[in-house]
Amino acid sequence: MISSKPILFSAIQPTGNITIGNYIGTMRHWSILQNNYDCFYCIADLHSLTTLENNFFLKKSILDTLSFYLACGVNPEKSVVFVQSHVYQHSQLNWILNCYTQFSELFRMTQFKKKRKTKHDHIEKINVGLFNYPVLMASDILLYQTNFVPVGSDQKQHIELTRNIANRFNSLYSSDVFTIPKPLINQYGCKIMSLLEPNKKMSKSDINKNNVIFLLDDISSVNLKIKQSITDSDKSCKIYYDRKKKPGISNLLEILSAISNKDIDVLSRELEGIMYAEFKNIVSDAISKFLCKLQKSYINYRRDESFLKKIAYEGAIKARLKSEKTLQKVQSKLDFFSIF
Ligand code: TYM
Repeated sequence: MISSKPILFSAIQPTGNITIGNYIGTMRHWSILQNNYDCFYCIADLHSLTTLENNFFLKKSILDTLSFYLACGVNPEKSVVFVQSHVYQHSQLNWILNCYTQFSELFRMTQFKKKRKTKHDHIEKINVGLFNYPVLMASDILLYQTNFVPVGSDQKQHIELTRNIANRFNSLYSSDVFTIPKPLINQYGCKIMSLLEPNKKMSKSDINKNNVIFLLDDISSVNLKIKQSITDSDKSCKIYYDRKKKPGISNLLEILSAISNKDIDVLSRELEGIMYAEFKNIVSDAISKFLCKLQKSYINYRRDESFLKKIAYEGAIKARLKSEKTLQKVQSKLDFFSIF
């Protein structure tokens, strides 16, 4: 794949069901981005080991995730679609970059602090992978000489860390081994909130499943979840966008805007004067239609495991070729003993 297009890298962890937050924050942009960038879409299975429960079916989840990538319009003829663990260069660079990252930098990461809290701050119960997670992410991104990384806003700090590690390495070795990547974060949809607690990010690990819409949810449960979702208790009962004053309504508006491809302003005008209950019906109808279509396409891909295996195989070969070049540059700067 030789072209002069800028390079774009993105990934999702195959930890159970993908949420509408994952879709709106990143995946929905992927099919369009493939036209203007050389895209690498990765399934970050090594990352998911940091939070897996013992009874988790990793292979199944990887195939599910790959099927969703395709259903969302990722075209393996245009983009490189691959599974992280199939490309050993990621773990190799991860170790090297560990040695260029400070403990204090990782300790400051907001996502780590939050995950630490879920273990009630018992340091001894936290696996080192969870701490090290952002360095593996930096390795993913830097291996491909990535220019842009489309992510939700929760990942911004990790991209900043990636930039710091890359700049540090480049300046230590007076080189331009790594391209310095930039995050691509949309103004709207970059942080879809929980349905019942609109001040908290929607997350696939939420124990209250009513907070989350999963891409594999059945339509009746979507309707119920939207019906139960928190709207705002101000007297006006108006539908308009204001994250501070109306977090619940604004969140539903962001979801509706993303899946209907309509500007928030246009929607607010269209929805002027209607009641909350009617608004919720409109939102759940739109989500249901969207999910029906997506699930149909997902099922078609998911059925054919040998096709999925072929896509993953071809993706791994292309990703290995590209990432090996960067790894060799790094190793040569570090004066590794090369025998091949
Ligand atoms: P993951 O699987 O937790 O999230 C995948 C993507 O979904 C975005 N996202 C959201 N966007 C909007 N609203 C939400 N409620 C929401 N929840 C999640 C995340 O920001 C992310 O973009 N660490 C990454 C996976 C990864 C990665 C990478 C990403 C591994 N290596 C390299 C980019 C580049 C993650 O958060 O996965």
